Amino acid sequence: MILDGKALSLKILDDVRNNVSKLSKKPHLVVVLIGDDAASKIYVNNKKKAADKVGIKSTIIELPKKTSEKELLSIINDLNNDKEVTGILVQLPLPAHIDKNKVVESISPQKDVDGFTPENVGRLAIGLEPYYYPATPQGVIMLLDEYNIPIEGADAVIIGRSNIVGKPMAQMLLKRNATVTICHSFSKGIEDKIKTADILISAVGKKIVRCKMVRNNSCVVDVGIFRDSNGKLTGDVDFDFVSPSCGYISPVPGGVGPMTIASLMYNASKVY
Ligand code: GUN
Repeated sequence: MILDGKALSLKILDDVRNNVSKLSKKPHLVVVLIGDDAASKIYVNNKKKAADKVGIKSTIIELPKKTSEKELLSIINDLNNDKEVTGILVQLPLPAHIDKNKVVESISPQKDVDGFTPENVGRLAIGLEPYYYPATPQGVIMLLDEYNIPIEGADAVIIGRSNIVGKPMAQMLLKRNATVTICHSFSKGIEDKIKTADILISAVGKKIVRCKMVRNNSCVVDVGIFRDSNGKLTGDVDFDFVSPSCGYISPVPGGVGPMTIASLMYNASKVY
């Protein structure tokens, strides 16, 4: 069965639009984009389009690649203090001369719609409610819940340990009482670990999950998205070969991608 992220994302965006229309304080999302990374530009424009669709005011601040760390921190400080701004998102990656961690930790946790600040990450890790959950893992959980995939007690295997997906995904699954294994480039016997998964989540950006690797009737969530050698948009999972043996599988495109945007809009509609 296909985990239809596109269809669910439309439902969520509808709900968000409804909720936003009833809010007394209107949300305003500010997205900061530094440099001219082509993929980042597309992502940021998609976020703006989605915000327009649900009635969330959004502003893109485009800064040149040479922007200094000090200038960027000063802009974030102004946004933190601006009462009309309710959400701040600094698109990653940043140019090499800027310390990503310094930037992320400078964002007010109450406006950190990415859920990347130490306070939000820490709150999630110690079982307190963060102000926001990171959009991609939150979107994956929404997708699993929509299809009533049991998480409690499930063996979940995550491939990838990024701050954006792998690590928060593990925390969120743990919070829901799954048994979580995180695999990464130093892991031994990844194939054996993948075989144990009731829920497999791949977030690598390389074709890594192939035929016969997954457990029968398992649930496979493909977070990877990249272009193959023919320029075709694809994911980490060899869909045609893997899909016959698993119970549920998310396609690329049309799976986690639209869920990430919908989940981000859900976050951006929350006003503290
Ligand atoms: N770059 C790739 N994914 C993300 C994301 O979820 N948030 C931000 N800020 N940058 C990203």
